[in-house]
Amino acid sequence: MSRSNQSPASLQQAYADFFPVGAAVSPEVIESHGELLRRHFGSLTCENDLKFARTQPEEGTFTFERSDRIIAFAREHGMKVRGHTLVWHQALPDWPFVGGDGAPATRRSVLERLEEHIHTVLAHTRGDVYCWDVVNEAVDERNGGFLRDTPWLQAVGKDYLDMAFRFAHEADPDAALFYNDCHTDAPDRHALIMRLLRGMLDRGVPVHGMGMQAHSRIDNLDVARLRAAIEDFASLGLQVQITEFDLSLYRDVGGPEEALKAPPAGRLEEQARLYDELFAMLRDVSQLVTGFTFWGVADDRTWLDNFPVKGRKNWPLLFDERHEPKDAFRRVVEGA
Ligand code: GLA
Repeated sequence: MSRSNQSPASLQQAYADFFPVGAAVSPEVIESHGELLRRHFGSLTCENDLKFARTQPEEGTFTFERSDRIIAFAREHGMKVRGHTLVWHQALPDWPFVGGDGAPATRRSVLERLEEHIHTVLAHTRGDVYCWDVVNEAVDERNGGFLRDTPWLQAVGKDYLDMAFRFAHEADPDAALFYNDCHTDAPDRHALIMRLLRGMLDRGVPVHGMGMQAHSRIDNLDVARLRAAIEDFASLGLQVQITEFDLSLYRDVGGPEEALKAPPAGRLEEQARLYDELFAMLRDVSQLVTGFTFWGVADDRTWLDNFPVKGRKNWPLLFDERHEPKDAFRRVVEGA
């Protein structure tokens, strides 16, 4: 890994003319990675602290202590905040779906709870959080499927997405409302998501943006395909954001590889080349892209250390384990 003595340029300054560059964080990370965040990032996402199970673990008990710390940091440093996420099948308690007698709650009662949840959370974050991933990961391409089989789908029916976006728009008419999903450029999933979005737009549902998670690996990042997906989503009149990017150093295409002890130079080079290619593409379509968020800050702390293999160290980001810029960082900044 080559290191220069020069103090590196700032990522967010380099991309100021293109789109805000963000990172997903916890309150611990704003302490441990505060210097990098202040210098290089213009936007924050709460990695977990605005998910349903965190904000309303029990009915009527709302907690914002952790997300408030992140929002206060963003405010202090003039950063934007993305809201993530209101409706998802994970990080979800059981209680919204249970009726008074222990039987499944009625559609009406689940919708009332959803409305109450969205209104309370957005009343709290209004003015600080400029956009929301209202629904996360709702499609499922398997078994010729369309919508993922989730507690929301079972309890409410297909219109739970429409309802969630309408509640969110009522609660915060200024927030840009996103549908967020994974593998959004894979042809089968892409087609389903386009169908979902077209349907919502036809019904007048207030959806304003498409969030492409885009968690990737060096053996599967396909920049041309990602570009085509961005252009396709934007053709619906939606803004597009890359919401959860990281670039795993493993080649897991045939199943998870053995753990590496240190990042091999050749793989870091490949990673830097791919980051370069990706950001060149994004600068080219930057009129369609209103944000880019990394799922993490530096390689010392990434969810990929425990996914898809628990305890397998990974190095997916632009800063290394010592918070030094990697060659990938230099390529991304110099390209801009
Ligand atoms: C998904 C979710 C994120 C996060 C990541 C893994 O992409 O949208 O909130 O949980 O998985 O950390």
